[in-house]
Amino acid sequence: MRVTFLFFLSLIFVSSSYSNELNLFTSRHYPSDLILFKKFEEKTGIKVNVINAKSKVLEKRLLDEGSKSKGDVLFLADAGALYSAEEKGLFAKYNESRSLKLVPASLKNDYWVGVTKRARIIFYNPNLVNYNEIKNISYEDLSSKKWRKSIAIRQSNNIYNQSLVASILEHKGEDFTREWLKKLVKNFSRKPQGNDRAQILSVAAGESKLAIANTYYYALMLSGKKGDDQKKAAQKVEPIFPNQNDRGAHINISGAGILSYSPNKKNAQEFLEFLLTKEAQTNLCNSSFEFPIIQNVSTNKLINNIKNFKEDIYIDVSTYGKRQAQAFKLMKKAGWN
Ligand SMILES: [Fe+2]
Repeated sequence: MRVTFLFFLSLIFVSSSYSNELNLFTSRHYPSDLILFKKFEEKTGIKVNVINAKSKVLEKRLLDEGSKSKGDVLFLADAGALYSAEEKGLFAKYNESRSLKLVPASLKNDYWVGVTKRARIIFYNPNLVNYNEIKNISYEDLSSKKWRKSIAIRQSNNIYNQSLVASILEHKGEDFTREWLKKLVKNFSRKPQGNDRAQILSVAAGESKLAIANTYYYALMLSGKKGDDQKKAAQKVEPIFPNQNDRGAHINISGAGILSYSPNKKNAQEFLEFLLTKEAQTNLCNSSFEFPIIQNVSTNKLINNIKNFKEDIYIDVSTYGKRQAQAFKLMKKAGWN
């Protein structure tokens, strides 16, 4: 119902007749993003029309509209989602100008650029797991017998999990990943279900020893924005960044690109540059609890003590998209529902 309403509303927006405007298709859902877009409007005189829906809905709409589309910028979470849109020819190349040069090469390609960053890490219950037994953990270790029936994780159709497995595939190869997945599934504490916050809740309740979740969900729970119960639950768990003694923790991005049929490409380019300014980075990450892409940006106090960790920068995030189908197939085969 909500999506239908937004869809209808967006049709009105997109057909409006501003001479200087930008039609932004975004899957982000933070009210503070809208305040940021207002700042862009004030700065540039370019009116931003926001079309908000889930990434697959946006992708389908853009494909259906084809060359008639008025969309200028597509802003999505997960490199896999960006890759999917890229594969379907939805993006035009952008110019790597100004602030866009500051984005590390592994977090962008010719068609889209990383805007915010997140890590997919482990959360443990200190009443059930001693820090010393987990401090050096790697993703590879999650398949160890030691963690039999201990791990809470969401379903295999979740794109964040597919990206994580894609990264294992890239680093360790298919044979290793196949065996690793078989053992990992045996270590699930329950049938995969729920979102990332549900995994943290399971650990807080003592039902699972470990949860796999993205960093910003933990901070979101700590913030109290999801209610007192979730805040208390998050306070009962501890984050651990895996693979700190080798390649670093798995990171992913939300990112944006200019659409192929964009009628306002110059505005779209300006908007991308704006998203990578210090001002925009501060705003985007403060509300979403993600990590900034560029250096020297102050972050929300709830992530200040978890932002210094070794990141896996040896892998280009585009790889997640390229290997996602292969990852999903192996996950299914291993019995990951
Ligand atoms: Fe998310």
